[in-house]
Amino acid sequence: MADLSTSYLGLNLKNPIIAASSSLTGNLDNVKKCEDAGAGAVVLKSLFEEQITSDKNRMIGDMNFDAHTDAYDFFNAVGTDYYLDEYLGLVEDAKKSLSVPVIASVNCISPGQWTDYAERFENIGADALELNMFILPSNISTSGDTIEDTYLKILKNVKKNTNIPVSIKIGYHFSGMGNFINRAVKNGANGVVLFNRFYKIDIDIDKIELKSSPIISEPSEIHLALQWIALMAGEVPADFSAATGVHDAEGVIKHLLAGASSVQLCSTLLKNGVGRITDILRGLEEWMDKKEYGKISDFNGILSQENSSHPEAYERSQFIKSVVGLS
Ligand SMILES: Cc1cc2nc3c(=O)[nH]c(=O)nc-3n(C[C@H](O)[C@H](O)[C@H](O)COP(=O)(O)O)c2cc1C
Repeated sequence: MADLSTSYLGLNLKNPIIAASSSLTGNLDNVKKCEDAGAGAVVLKSLFEEQITSDKNRMIGDMNFDAHTDAYDFFNAVGTDYYLDEYLGLVEDAKKSLSVPVIASVNCISPGQWTDYAERFENIGADALELNMFILPSNISTSGDTIEDTYLKILKNVKKNTNIPVSIKIGYHFSGMGNFINRAVKNGANGVVLFNRFYKIDIDIDKIELKSSPIISEPSEIHLALQWIALMAGEVPADFSAATGVHDAEGVIKHLLAGASSVQLCSTLLKNGVGRITDILRGLEEWMDKKEYGKISDFNGILSQENSSHPEAYERSQFIKSVVGLS
């Protein structure tokens, strides 16, 4: 029987399947079900940076501190960390109930005061912290450099405040993707999750109004992450976790061949239930047996650009044949 174990962020995973951060992983029952179905690790639903600061700000905003600056200091320092405490409770409960690694997640947009709290995830037992970073680059006055510097500052501040491994989960809005990933790793990122999938708009032409695009991804969305995992794995010294569009064992196998050390599943679990993890693991094992691979490292990354005898094939970005008749 094939050995599915792998290493991600320095953690030993019994297999490369991670239940991705979503509403599904926002409660103990569900994360336990993910473990029971075979998940090698879970990423808990993201706590929003704004949640860490919001209660405190609301309390402070509601009160008149003119005559009581001590009270301001009290609320500011002690605060009412309702959301944070609730989230830390989830981390703690998950750690008590699960034997697989539990990765906490924060959705962050600024390197502000919230980063001081990073150590609390470690103290409560989180095995790692995933920083779900996304600033929509739509502000016409904000340069890409400014946004990238913000991401790196968040990362540096978090790393300063915790010793657990930290991964960054990013989108694909970078003109210098390879350079940014490399700088993030140099600034302490132990792992990189490629890619997050964001809410996008659609338009209802009957009602003539905005609507949401599909929340659930399609298997055809796998290719962007596949290409970037193949380009970066081995080139940058970090663990890569694949995300978006992985719905079956075939998708997982492709990412492992490209060089991902773990693969995150979300949409397929929301659509088919967490039992899907068991099916996918079975499919992975069957394929490994068929190909006579005894362990993941026998084939992990063999189709990354770094290990390829045709590295140029990974950087081709135009369909030349259809334009000028060349293949
Ligand atoms: C309903 C829903 C909630 C999500 N919530 C989070 C979240 O809190 N934090 C996060 O990092 N990603 C979140 N995601 C993104 C997923 O973790 C995942 O990266 C994305 O859906 C792409 O993977 P998939 O194609 O397997 O769905 C969410 C996705 C969905 C559909």
